[in-house]
Amino acid sequence: MTKKKLPMIISAILLALSVVVFTSAMIYLHTANSDKTLIVYFTRVGNTDFSEKVDAVSSASLRRNMSGELMGNCEVMANTLQKATSADVFAITVEDKYPESYEETVSRARKEQSDNARPTLTSSVDNMDDYEKIILIYPVWWSTMPQPVFTFLESYDFSDKEIYPVATHKGSFLGSSVRDIERLCPNSAVHSGMPIAGGCVDWIGIIPIAIIAALALILSGSCVRYKFDVKTKGYYIGGSLAVIGMISVVGCIIRVMI
Ligand SMILES: Cc1cc2nc3c(=O)[nH]c(=O)nc-3n(C[C@H](O)[C@H](O)[C@H](O)COP(=O)(O)O)c2cc1C
Repeated sequence: MTKKKLPMIISAILLALSVVVFTSAMIYLHTANSDKTLIVYFTRVGNTDFSEKVDAVSSASLRRNMSGELMGNCEVMANTLQKATSADVFAITVEDKYPESYEETVSRARKEQSDNARPTLTSSVDNMDDYEKIILIYPVWWSTMPQPVFTFLESYDFSDKEIYPVATHKGSFLGSSVRDIERLCPNSAVHSGMPIAGGCVDWIGIIPIAIIAALALILSGSCVRYKFDVKTKGYYIGGSLAVIGMISVVGCIIRVMI
């Protein structure tokens, strides 16, 4: 194998891999989609009484929608999946709301986890028997699900149902959440889970396509470069295409991670 061919081979492998990952994600969502699917989500925003003037720009994990309403990452994700699947949506809400301060919420979540607490919920699903598939969307808190999601999972019989975990996070990916779901729902088919960086939820449709397009650019740039002799116009054009592709891939990856 010549040194010149190496970038082509690497970019072809990466391109093939990302197409496989993208297709698997599509299949994952497609199989989760049916009339008997319920999208369940928990989000910090829906479980906190924020004052009117809370700063969504500088506050961690807060965002505003086009109408200026505060929205949690998991709610954005639930809305996106609802539009894609037309499934019913249910929001897990707690009786004792979380503090407005991010740091205080983090401390309380830590204590709830070490106490193995089961916070009381104020919402319930009356017709759980009607659903066969549950898309469970939650933020990763201290490397697993928030304790109210534990309460939710213990409140119903999920035997013979399929559970599709979707976790928004800031670096822990799924943490131990899927193992915890398997433990709480031993008679359910718990799927492998999909982690999504919290900062990326509103880019979710674009990022995978952008990565595939950027890898295709690297591949085509490498092919053009390979075709031409060194230090010719074509060689430089091919090189430039490959570099633009690489910058785009790095940009997309950074966006997915943070
Ligand atoms: C109490 C608390 C604990 C968190 N712990 C983690 C963690 O262990 N790992 C991680 O990657 N992100 C952690 N995060 C970040 C959230 O998972 C992330 O911002 C998520 O997208 C928030 O979703 P939401 O806006 O729907 O609540 C934590 C956030 C909070 C509020």
